[in-house]
Amino acid sequence: MARDASLFSGRPSELIGQQIAGYRIEDEIGRGGMAVVYRAHDLRLDRTVALKLLAPELARNDTFRKRFTHESRVAAAIDHPHIVPVFEAGETDGVLYIAMRYVSGSDLRHLLDREGPLALPTAVRIATQVASALDAAHEHGLVHRDVKPGNILVARGTDSDHPEHVYLTDFGLTKKSLSLTGFTTVGQFVGTLDYVAPEQISGRPVDGRCDVYGLACVVYESLAGRPPFRRDDDMALLWAHQYDLPPAVSEARGDLPGHVDGVFAKALAKSPDDRYESCLAFVTELRGGVAGHAPTEVDRRVAVARGRDEGPPAPPRWAEPVFRRLG
Ligand SMILES: Nc1ncnc2c1ncn2[C@@H]1O[C@H](COP(=O)(O)OP(=O)(O)OP(=O)(O)O)[C@@H](O)[C@H]1O
Ligand SMILES: [Mg+2]
Repeated sequence: MARDASLFSGRPSELIGQQIAGYRIEDEIGRGGMAVVYRAHDLRLDRTVALKLLAPELARNDTFRKRFTHESRVAAAIDHPHIVPVFEAGETDGVLYIAMRYVSGSDLRHLLDREGPLALPTAVRIATQVASALDAAHEHGLVHRDVKPGNILVARGTDSDHPEHVYLTDFGLTKKSLSLTGFTTVGQFVGTLDYVAPEQISGRPVDGRCDVYGLACVVYESLAGRPPFRRDDDMALLWAHQYDLPPAVSEARGDLPGHVDGVFAKALAKSPDDRYESCLAFVTELRGGVAGHAPTEVDRRVAVARGRDEGPPAPPRWAEPVFRRLG
């Protein structure tokens, strides 16, 4: 349909100022393999949103449409501080779209590209927020399937104890498990293969533990500066995820504490049964087995009420906020 093509594949500037499904397009934020994301104005509610327009070919794929509808409903129903709130998902003129909260900041892909490897405390702080979002989704029966730096949005945090606020986005938007490995009709893979779990590759059933694997790949890259596997071509990379052992992260980062290699070995296990049961269990072990966080004021008030106050709040444990460097 000519209209589809003009909505999606027109040059970005052609859409600026246009209205789509009650949103006025203001600016292009970014584009991935199967979608373009715009900053837009919601004319009904008079607010700024991020409007994602999916490639028209996806609307023609029945499997994708069904899962898109189902999973955007489930994602919209999850009210979680680290999941991007979805305001509306629908279809207009053959193009699927999602309106969601506009997150001002960067995504982890850009952050890593710009800053290189992160300090362990920073990587752990970001991973903890993503892990809590993933575990909440899993409790709702939703598996993300496409955990990767581009789907982790990093905004300014609230204070020096929480220098970044991290949001996970794009539930159910992966094309990877639609067919064997997500190759399009022209044989090109949509998206990256750096974070895909062995069971996704072999077409076995997936559960939350495939997101444990994906998250572990992301945190590995955040620390080592490269994902666990690097190969010359896609088939070799798929093979590596299924059969090769990743190099110890300490090979790239000699400054990390000794327990870290063992934690990644378990989180990146080939069989889901050998991995951590949850994403937070993985991150807790990464932190050295120390669960939780420094008490917030609210926690402290509860603690005082119960007579368990253990003194003043701890000073920020991790001094180096990344957000200041995001620009
Ligand atoms: N709610 C949002 N607020 C602000 N920026 C966003 C939001 N959602 C996505 N973005 C930005 O839009 C860009 C494009 O996102 P998109 O999901 O299309 O691609 P991707 O996740 O990078 O790659 P892929 O196509 O492989 O999924 C991302 O880099 C992200 O920074
Ligand atoms: Mg994305």
